[in-house]
This record gives sequence, C-alpha cells and structure tokens, in this order.
Amino acid sequence: MNTVKTVRELRAAVARARSEGKQIGLVPTMGNLHSGHAALVTTAAQQADFVVASIFVNPLQFGANEDLDTYPRTLAADQETFLQAGCNLLFAPTVEEMYPNGMTGLTRVTAAQLSNELCGSRRPGHFDGVTTVVSKLFNMIQPDLAIFGQKDFQQLAVIRAMVLDLNIPVQIIGEPTVRAEDGLALSSRNGYLTEEQRQLAPALYRHLNEIAQAIKAGERDYAGLVRHHLAQIEAKGFRPDYLEIRQAHTLLPATADDRDLVILVAAFLGATRLIDNIHLNLEGSF
Ligand code: PAF
Repeated sequence: MNTVKTVRELRAAVARARSEGKQIGLVPTMGNLHSGHAALVTTAAQQADFVVASIFVNPLQFGANEDLDTYPRTLAADQETFLQAGCNLLFAPTVEEMYPNGMTGLTRVTAAQLSNELCGSRRPGHFDGVTTVVSKLFNMIQPDLAIFGQKDFQQLAVIRAMVLDLNIPVQIIGEPTVRAEDGLALSSRNGYLTEEQRQLAPALYRHLNEIAQAIKAGERDYAGLVRHHLAQIEAKGFRPDYLEIRQAHTLLPATADDRDLVILVAAFLGATRLIDNIHLNLEGSF
C-alpha cells in the first residue's frame, strides 16, 4: 500500500489502476482508525478491485467549539490498519493540499435540507463541510463506489442525497455499525471517554434497543416513548442532544403508519458527544 500526500500523485496512481481495468472503491475517513473503519475497507475490497482510502481531518466540518485541534492524528498506526484490511492506496493530504486557496470564500456544496435536522441543527455548517470535502474527494478520485458507516446515519443520507441531486456517478454503500462486545458503537471519539464514562456509554444502545422492541411489540406513542427514555438517559448522567424516531429515508418525524424507521440518539458524556442509531424496518414483522 502506497501513501500519497498530493492530488497529483493520487490522480496518477488512480489513473494507473483504472488503465488496468480496475474498479475503484473509496473509503473516506478522518483517521484514528478502529475495526469499524477496517470493515469499510474490507467491504470496499470485496466490491472493487482497487481500494483508495483517505485520511483527512477536515477543518470545514468542525464547529468553532469542537475538537478539531485535539482530534487524534495517528497516521503510522492507521497505515498498518489499512494495509491489513486490504487497502491499495492511502491519500493523506495536508490542509494546504486540500484547500490551497484557504477556506474563506471557498466554493462549497450545500447539503440537502435534511442536513438541517438532528446533528445538523446542533452543528451548523457541519454537513456542508462534509459534502464539500466528499465531493472534492469524488472529483479527485472519481471512484466507482464509496463506502460510509451507518453509524453516521444522517451523514450517509446526506451523501446519498448529494449524489442523487448532483448526478454524481458513484455508488454509495452503507456499512453496518461495528460494536464493542457491550454494544457501544465504535467511534474514534470513544477514546475521549474516562473509564467510568466508557462503562456507562453502552446504555445508549440499550435504550435504542428497548425503543425498537417496544415499537415491534406495537407501541405507537412515539412522543411518550421518547420522553420516557430521554428521562432515563438523562438520569444515568448523559446530557442528551436528541432522541428521535424518524422515517429512515427522509429523516422526517415518523408517524404511526410509517414502516421504515430509524431511532437516532446523540448525547454528551462529559465533553464527548456520542451518536448511535437503529434502523428498524417493520415491513413483514407482523
Ligand atoms: O465520517 C467521517 O469520518 C467524515 O465525516 C468524512 C466522511 C470522512 C468526511 O470528512
């Protein structure tokens, strides 16, 4: 696996692979990899002949009070993880390489309206930062397919909308969330948790499961269900940002008649913001 830092080297390496008739798969990341990221590469390697991964901590998607400066940069360990997972080429540019004209006044891709909900309403500008950097990567690499984790359910929906709205010829694949044995969704930000917070963190997933079970059992008072679990999550020591039951495809609030649902949560433990979700399709479950 080669690591390249410039767009010129990246384009040359991808052009070589394409001239050999290879299908290109892209796995965009911000590094500090865990086995969830390795799963993205494994899937990409199953679906494409040449896997390009990127590591770039994108300043454009961080808010002013967020963790851009402290976000862990662990390139050497990440190279090893990607190599083992079957990655062929790693693109690890500097901020100057990605944004040679700076980030003020930059042409940006405005994410679809669904980006203003949920995480987007708590992190203004975040999804525009994501769609801008992801479209830059798509233009630099022109992959046949790209893989994103379902843990960032809204991000995946925003990227699917962008590809559809802008006719970008890339197949988007969602990779199931990888979890620790106790159910906690793997995330680079889990590393910020103290031991005590880490013990508490899987409770979020347990609440999502309890809500999913209640819905499967016929409960349709979504507002009541959410109120009840929000109170419990708060009582455990989380500072919830939101807990919502939404339509999986539009991310609009779910009604009792909707069958394809997603239950989404975002909550702080101390200064660490955790997100998780369960996709629940009721079709055929009665
Ligand atoms: O999910 C992430 O790690 C980032 O949002 C992404 C897709 C790599 C864009 O910077």
